[in-house]
Amino acid sequence: MPFVSPGHVRLLLGDARRMEGILNRSIALVVTSPPYPMIPQWDRLFLSLGARTYPQMLQVLADAWAECRRVMIPGGILAINVGDALRSVDGEFRLWPNVAETTVAASEAGFSPLPYILWKKPTNKPNAFLGSGFLPPNAYVTLDCEFVLLFRNGPLRRFPPHDASRAASRFERTERDRWFSQVWSDVRGTRQDGRGGRTGAFPSAIPERLIRMFSVVGDTVLDPFAGTGTTLWTAARWGRHAIGVERDPATFRALVATGRRLGLLSPGSTQRQFAPTVRGGRSPPRRRDEGTVGRSR
Ligand SMILES: C[S@@+](CC[C@H](N)C(=O)[O-])C[C@H]1O[C@@H](n2cnc3c(N)ncnc32)[C@H](O)[C@@H]1O
Repeated sequence: MPFVSPGHVRLLLGDARRMEGILNRSIALVVTSPPYPMIPQWDRLFLSLGARTYPQMLQVLADAWAECRRVMIPGGILAINVGDALRSVDGEFRLWPNVAETTVAASEAGFSPLPYILWKKPTNKPNAFLGSGFLPPNAYVTLDCEFVLLFRNGPLRRFPPHDASRAASRFERTERDRWFSQVWSDVRGTRQDGRGGRTGAFPSAIPERLIRMFSVVGDTVLDPFAGTGTTLWTAARWGRHAIGVERDPATFRALVATGRRLGLLSPGSTQRQFAPTVRGGRSPPRRRDEGTVGRSR
């Protein structure tokens, strides 16, 4: 357990693509897990944002990374938990490369890519694979890894010598050795059956490590896709302030209730913002109807 006083949490009902309630250059670290394009769970959400094709879904996320850059301090770190998707569209089963696309999109938004973390989830079904029998060549490799992609906003962050907040944020040698190795195979996925279905929540060990690796006590951590608020409550527990942006009103109400129950929201720390219209960003050059979901067959 940390020996620092908890940070406070602000919640914004709004859109990650236009976080008007957040000042320029005020966020030291972003830890987030966006809705993954081409995972059926998120089809309705992407459709409500005007995104029906894979390039349009990627554009929603690209706009959010550009907005993160606006609010981040120089030297701040962007940490994105994302996985690829497997899905048949128009009879073709294939992988949708969210990890590669996110790396390109954040780089195009102006971030510098850093070495990433491969989160290999321990599985109870080591022999699970897609296909049948033991005959080549038509089985598929099991997709049991997600990534934590890491980016820096510009130059290295600098501190004055003997900075007290930095000293108070020190981690142990054993923690460093585990956390800064590229494969994390000791973090289990979390139960997904929250209120109203699957939540997409990640286990608190993921944000806990990232917050302690890449921010100091007193910093402000942002989750632009807040969900159940795992990043926010973890940041507060480790003496960082946190801001969560969530677009879905029911999920937002649940966030407010949790924040109040945990005693982490100060009065006036929840706000409603208008949802923006979709920005006319540049779409990746590819077939315009690629990965169109929800069309009748
Ligand atoms: C994968 S979940 C996040 C899970 C979170 N890491 C947790 O532990 O609960 C993605 C969340 O982003 C929200 N969301 C989707 N699009 C959004 C947008 N444009 N702006 C803000 N929130 C959005 C969804 O409603 C959902 O709650």
